[in-house]
Amino acid sequence: MTDANSYTGKLVTIERYILEQQQSHPEATGTLTNLLYDLALAAKIIASKTTRAGLAEILGSAGEENVQGEEVQKLDAFAQRTLYRLNDHTGRLAVMASEEVEEIIPIPERFPVGPYVLVFDPLDGSSNIDVNVSIGTIFGIYRRKSTAGRGTLEDVLQPGRNLVAAGYILYGASTMMVYSTGNGVHGFTLDPAIGEFLLSHPHIRLTDKPKYYSVNQGYQPYWTPGVQAYTEWLQRDTPEKKGLSLRYIGSLVADFHRNLLAGGVFYYPADRKDPKKPGGKLRLIYEANPLAFLIEQAGGYASDGTQAILDIQPTKLHQRVPLFIGNRILVEQAEALIRTHDQTAVSL
Ligand code: AHG
Ligand code: MN
Ligand code: MN
Repeated sequence: MTDANSYTGKLVTIERYILEQQQSHPEATGTLTNLLYDLALAAKIIASKTTRAGLAEILGSAGEENVQGEEVQKLDAFAQRTLYRLNDHTGRLAVMASEEVEEIIPIPERFPVGPYVLVFDPLDGSSNIDVNVSIGTIFGIYRRKSTAGRGTLEDVLQPGRNLVAAGYILYGASTMMVYSTGNGVHGFTLDPAIGEFLLSHPHIRLTDKPKYYSVNQGYQPYWTPGVQAYTEWLQRDTPEKKGLSLRYIGSLVADFHRNLLAGGVFYYPADRKDPKKPGGKLRLIYEANPLAFLIEQAGGYASDGTQAILDIQPTKLHQRVPLFIGNRILVEQAEALIRTHDQTAVSL
């Protein structure tokens, strides 16, 4: 049994850590710091609802379809509302965009605007809600590009290289918030007894002995020869690594988090199973870019199979992208095998 009194080491709350990081930027106004606090608060609110998700009043779908054509679960709607309500009036944001909302989300006219742009996937892994498996929230923060007034679509359609901060919240056995402002990746674990995120994983770096590969192997019949060859390479002992074990949860945040801590690669290639989604399933703005920013900060790499995710100029709000993300040597091997085997398949 542990309680708040059983802590013996140095206790660092997320608020204190974010503030200490801000102090190394004397030019900082505190706006980004406060925006990160707002997200930590959203995380606590969504976590407390998630813990009770198995209870009857929240189980089941809301009976609507989101812009991706998928059924929206009630918890998705709750997470969407929470993130919106905590951020619409603070004067820190110019505009928001969410995986669950078709158009950009303007800041209401009655509230002031600020310098930042917030993009998010409010509830990632929604197919896992009803079966009590880990889910998450993903966010990215940009500086606005437009110079005055309400934020615009152009403020949202920025390459991931422009991110100033990104992170995720994992609602798992424990709730964790993991983020980076470009100065390493730091992880915090929520102590529900005291309602605080406490620093548990400072300066996360990828190990050079990766353990896992994560892919939906059920789609193997639809993979290109390059992705087939890549998967076989991952499974074998090679000069660079031992053969990897397969782990796949089906919640990107949870799969990413495990591989961040244990080393490995997650991929969701551009398979042909669903002709309506020829460019993969995951979204560039809400999923791939924030996680690509984090993986580079941890010493890894993310690619669409041909180029760095962070270098892609988005053209559409809900653009999908193939994603290979994890240890650099593993992701570069995916690029090499796709180059060799899929020259005709790149036009998928
Ligand atoms: P979301 O719940 O935000 O729509 O995202 C679901 C995504 C992602 O979390 C996961 O990696 C992937 O869907 C799993 O897809 P498959 O079931 O096709 O493997
Ligand atoms: Mn998602
Ligand atoms: Mn989602």
